[in-house]
Amino acid sequence: MSYNYITAEEAASLIQNGQQIAFSGFTPAGATKVIPSAIAKRAEEEHAAGREFKINAVTGASTGDSCDGVLSRAQALNYRAPYQSNADLRAGANKNVIHFTDLHLSMMPQYMNYGFLGKFDWAIVEAADVSDNGEILLTTSVGISPTGLKLADKILIELNEYHSKELRGFHDIYECANPPFRREIPIYSAGDRIGSEVVKVDPKKIVGIVRTNKADEVKPFKPSDPITEKIGQNVANFLASEMKAGRIPSSFLPIQSGVGNIANAVLGAMGNNPDIPAFSMYSEVLQDSVINLIEEGRISCASATSLTVTPEKIQEIYANPKFFRERVVLRPQEISNSPEIARRIGIISINTAIEVDLSGNVNSSHIMGKNLMNGIGGSGDFTRAAYTSIYTTPSVAKGGCISAIVPNVSHCDHTEHSVNVVVSEYGVADLRCKTPYERAQILIENCAHPDYRDMLRKFIKDAPMGHTPQTLSNAYCFHEAFITQGDMRKAVID
Ligand code: COA
Repeated sequence: MSYNYITAEEAASLIQNGQQIAFSGFTPAGATKVIPSAIAKRAEEEHAAGREFKINAVTGASTGDSCDGVLSRAQALNYRAPYQSNADLRAGANKNVIHFTDLHLSMMPQYMNYGFLGKFDWAIVEAADVSDNGEILLTTSVGISPTGLKLADKILIELNEYHSKELRGFHDIYECANPPFRREIPIYSAGDRIGSEVVKVDPKKIVGIVRTNKADEVKPFKPSDPITEKIGQNVANFLASEMKAGRIPSSFLPIQSGVGNIANAVLGAMGNNPDIPAFSMYSEVLQDSVINLIEEGRISCASATSLTVTPEKIQEIYANPKFFRERVVLRPQEISNSPEIARRIGIISINTAIEVDLSGNVNSSHIMGKNLMNGIGGSGDFTRAAYTSIYTTPSVAKGGCISAIVPNVSHCDHTEHSVNVVVSEYGVADLRCKTPYERAQILIENCAHPDYRDMLRKFIKDAPMGHTPQTLSNAYCFHEAFITQGDMRKAVID
């Protein structure tokens, strides 16, 4: 079949107000870049002419500024799910002008399949290649693309020549059937492949292809600082001691690691620790640090849904595709983040908390109980199913005015029942199988910043006897003090 090669503007002119679109992208990796920008421009023109123009957009997770940023600034988004990390989208969500839903990332494809989000008018997907018979070679992420391509009435492709066709063989596309026909996902170790290299669609659904040549908008990391380095060392030393104690097998267990600077420092520290053998990753995002550790032989194989690496790193991969194809598998997010597989293969999950309370509940997503930061992402998919779930956090934020260890979290994403270990720059709180009073004590003495320890000790001491140390009237005194006086150290526990 011969396709219709069109411009981004022609593609955008096909989109109608109120339509629902599944975009590719999981982080800026594999996100569409030119069609969303053209849709944003069209929205601005429609608004200037006094007409309504907003779309409902779902993606794998966050995307780049050329998708979420431009659409938010053009006020072109009505609904958006399941995750974001863009300042303008965040501002719109926190003002409720963009209707944003924060969802577990593994659930997104199945919610689409179950019809919970309604009909999809379009799938707009970045590809490295499209064959005449409708075989689509995705680029640096898989995310929700197979599901969006299957469900959408019509498809627009950004054919991005920046990405190498050597990506063929990196992807493992496998979709679960809906209940009651769903079976187990037959993955028994991180590198297993169970699906196809490409997504197959009816070529007649491909309405247009837009040619592009653009790198993913992945930003380099901040250089690590003494605090993130210490957190990384604490995690690595804890895992090495778990192996020594026989609680982690000598062949080690697959690692899931979150995104950001702390995650990067943790992986760096694990790679440098001589007591930790080469390990595999079963994670959602692979960052630059993973590629370095693969090259050094410290990571034997890595499964994820996105290759969120800087342009320099992706060129390293494209220069040596055979080596990386044997060691990297990119899966749909329903599979990369599957709690079924995480539980079976025994992953060690390592994610970052915004705040942790004295019971061990974790807030990953909201500031002061109300404003969205990024979202829960995949942290819940892994935490609940992990062999051991770890949360890292610097002990304080905003120059010491915010304690990461608080009497009660202002928003709860992961309950005390799922959170095993908390690590700050001060140490490790191993909460496994501990009582509520023991957990509170360990968190204060091992992880809290010294400026806050006496206040937290008083919270416990003054609490009326019960199974859990709690005084409801003081429950949010730290947060109240920050909101009213700009400093949690001014909290009064009475
Ligand atoms: N109250 C207010 N602000 C806080 C805070 C708190 N308790 N804790 C952290 N912050 C702020 C920091 O000051 C920083 O602000 P800035 O951007 O203005 O400098 C920001 O949150 C990010 O914190 P940082 O310490 O730099 O860590 P990070 O970049 O690793 O991000 C999360 C931490 C929690 C926001 C991030 O990991 C996240 O979004 N997690 C949820 C999704 C997830 O876990 N994904 C991985 C699953 S595979």
